Amino acid sequence: MRVLVTGGAGYVGCVLVQELLARDCEVRVLDSLRKPGAPLVPLLANPRLEFQRGDVRDRRAVEEALRGADVAVHLAAVVGYPACERDPWLAREVNVGGTLNLTAARSPAQLIVFPSSLSNYGSVPDGLCTEEMEPQPLTLYGSTKLEAEKLVLEKGNAVVLRPATAFGLSPQLRLDLLFNNFMYRALNEGVIVVYQPHFLRAFIHVRDFARAILFAIDNAERMRDGVYNLGAEALNLTKGELAARIAERLGCRLQISEDGEDPDKRDYRVDFSKLEKQGFTAQMTINDGIEEMARGLQVISLPNPYSNASYY
Ligand SMILES: NC(=O)c1ccc[n+]([C@@H]2O[C@H](COP(=O)([O-])OP(=O)(O)OC[C@H]3O[C@@H](n4cnc5c(N)ncnc54)[C@H](O)[C@@H]3O)[C@@H](O)[C@H]2O)c1
Repeated sequence: MRVLVTGGAGYVGCVLVQELLARDCEVRVLDSLRKPGAPLVPLLANPRLEFQRGDVRDRRAVEEALRGADVAVHLAAVVGYPACERDPWLAREVNVGGTLNLTAARSPAQLIVFPSSLSNYGSVPDGLCTEEMEPQPLTLYGSTKLEAEKLVLEKGNAVVLRPATAFGLSPQLRLDLLFNNFMYRALNEGVIVVYQPHFLRAFIHVRDFARAILFAIDNAERMRDGVYNLGAEALNLTKGELAARIAERLGCRLQISEDGEDPDKRDYRVDFSKLEKQGFTAQMTINDGIEEMARGLQVISLPNPYSNASYY
């Protein structure tokens, strides 16, 4: 099977590409290298991986990247609400315009798997988010991902996943993600400061995220043209609960702060039963993630460019 991965040099992409190569797929990555390409270097020893440096906003580059592909996994995006707020024009161009290019260039026979986002749901403090409800995104990130979903579904032969916030190790590590950020702070600063600890959030390990994409490819026949929340009931946690679990395991301080405010207003409990009924179960637990991150973060000493308020 030949698979195009746009954004394959990113946090999720690097893990997915590894999994695809382990399955004997031929993989082409289209990535503009907004993030450094170094994490892909060891994988490029495998001749079944081809790298194309290019931008999803460039229609020709997208056409070339799609040539011969059986499946496209569309990860390239301006990801997260802080990045979208920093450059709203770019966010629209990439998240919507890039998806439009892919949609226009893709033949009906080429399956697309598109990870959208649970950010689409916005704030739903009193209910359970299901795929049937009308999403009400609070941020430009959420609204561009929702628009992209619609484009992808209109063309058909598509599976849309709405993943929870990812956590865990990847060759292209992201420390702005809530779980990973808490881990970094716990290990490097000895304290986790939490605003709005009661906000409910949902999580998914990055390898389960990649596995779900493979699952969607394998089961496209029955999942086609559907939207599926990706996560697990046990991984619906408040920010305070998550921080407390990490603080307890690592023996660090937990500080609930009334002084600041988290600009990320997402607050929701999510129903993951639709994807589970298809047969997908997330394997990695919160504790697995804590142990794994604690091991991985020992060997890096990164300055954390993210302030308390900017994780997502
Ligand atoms: N990480 C999460 O928690 C999460 C949760 C839900 C959904 N998603 C979705 O999964 C996808 C991957 O997320 P990620 O965490 O790996 O993000 P990431 O930022 O680590 O990776 C994005 C990749 O896209 C590339 N890229 C950006 N703009 C591009 C362009 N114009 N043309 C080509 N390549 C471009 C970047 O260089 C980068 O390698 C995104 O679509 C995101 O919306 C992620």
